[in-house]
Amino acid sequence: MEQVVVGLDIGTTKTCAVIGYLNENGQIEIAGVGIAPSRGLKNGIIVNIDNTVSSIVKSIEDAELMAGCEVSSVFVGVTGQHVKGENSRGVVAVANRNRTITPIEIKRVIEAAQAVVIPMDREIIHVLSKEFSVDDQTGIKDPIGMSGVRLEAEVHIITGSSTSIQNLLKSVNKAGFHCGDMIFSPLASSEATLSRDERDLGVALVDIGGGTTDVIVYVEGGVSYSSVLSIGGIHVTNDISIGLRTPLDSAEVIKKKYGCGVVDLIDASETIEVPSVGGRAPRRLFRQELAQIIEPRMIEIMEMVDQELLRSGKKDILAAGIVLTGGGSMMEGAVDAAERVFNMPVRVGVPVEVSGLKDVVSTPLYSNGVGLLKYGIRMSQFRSKKSRPGKGSINSLKDKFKRFFEEYL
Ligand SMILES: Nc1ncnc2c1ncn2[C@@H]1O[C@H](COP(=O)(O)OP(=O)(O)OP(=O)(O)O)[C@@H](O)[C@H]1O
Ligand SMILES: [Mg+2]
Repeated sequence: MEQVVVGLDIGTTKTCAVIGYLNENGQIEIAGVGIAPSRGLKNGIIVNIDNTVSSIVKSIEDAELMAGCEVSSVFVGVTGQHVKGENSRGVVAVANRNRTITPIEIKRVIEAAQAVVIPMDREIIHVLSKEFSVDDQTGIKDPIGMSGVRLEAEVHIITGSSTSIQNLLKSVNKAGFHCGDMIFSPLASSEATLSRDERDLGVALVDIGGGTTDVIVYVEGGVSYSSVLSIGGIHVTNDISIGLRTPLDSAEVIKKKYGCGVVDLIDASETIEVPSVGGRAPRRLFRQELAQIIEPRMIEIMEMVDQELLRSGKKDILAAGIVLTGGGSMMEGAVDAAERVFNMPVRVGVPVEVSGLKDVVSTPLYSNGVGLLKYGIRMSQFRSKKSRPGKGSINSLKDKFKRFFEEYL
């Protein structure tokens, strides 16, 4: 078989492993998937290593069984409010004899751009290049071979808390796997759901999970803004549980079955049955009453996202609109609620451009896992084209290869 890669999405509500490879037609073939409930995370961050390890083992075992192969190395997603994105620029003189930009100048300018002060307790996860300028010419995507005296790079740097990153790494290792690399979750979800055209036109991806909502903004093909909010589908379930005085697990079932993010979309006469606590008989209520509980929370989530879009300073130029993904986007009326708040076109994104178990992964729940797989495949290809990095630690891999790879994403 081709080189098999694993995308491992350790989410707040579920851990999901996606095994795949690049087939002979150059397509990403999904060979196996596994999902296990997560019990060791809060708002995207690991709070219990042993519980996280069990979910990792279970999800990968299931995916291996389906794929009929064993895996050892995984590409894992990282999110949570500790992850921060910021823009930075670097400038260098093109000092070689014929004043031509080569990969050496690119490396120098990216290094200059990431020379921002990173606190001791934080680590760089990505340095994503947005665009270069050569002398007075701006907006250059690939300056190699161009002549000039001054090279400038604009980058988006994503950092995370060292402790949270270490706990993630520890959990993966304790489960018996090697971490091929760590990828900021919404970057992976974008890889699965967005087209290059959308990224070029300007688009925001919003991944509404159980405990986090991740926002990432693309302008002219590059990442311009990113942010993680500690809110998600779990909050909706909690509201239903309290509002209908029903246990959390039945609130979750009711939400998925009858939930709707916009009251007006529901026929006023439609009723549903709700189980009660303490052995009392189930009750019937209008479905609109359920939506009345859900709508304010959905609107709140969208308003928080809207604040981030405004903070990015790019909301007005997102010609390709907003793409929602993650389990929270599966709520009926999510697109309507989002369109009302953002006042721009919204669609739901699912993994695209994959073959094999395509139908299985064609849901917003798999956007992150499939994205991690895609990212991992591209990164593995890039690494095997370069000289082999050997069995270095994740940091040496990151320094030597990952950043270089991302300059050309
Ligand atoms: N059909 C549905 N309707 C409404 N909500 C849904 C539906 N399916 C799933 N959800 C909600 O989506 C959430 C889980 O989404 P997802 O699997 O993307 O999150 P996660 O990756 O586990 O968490 P996070 O990304 O926040 O760490 C849950 O709150 C779940 O209730
Ligand atoms: Mg998630």
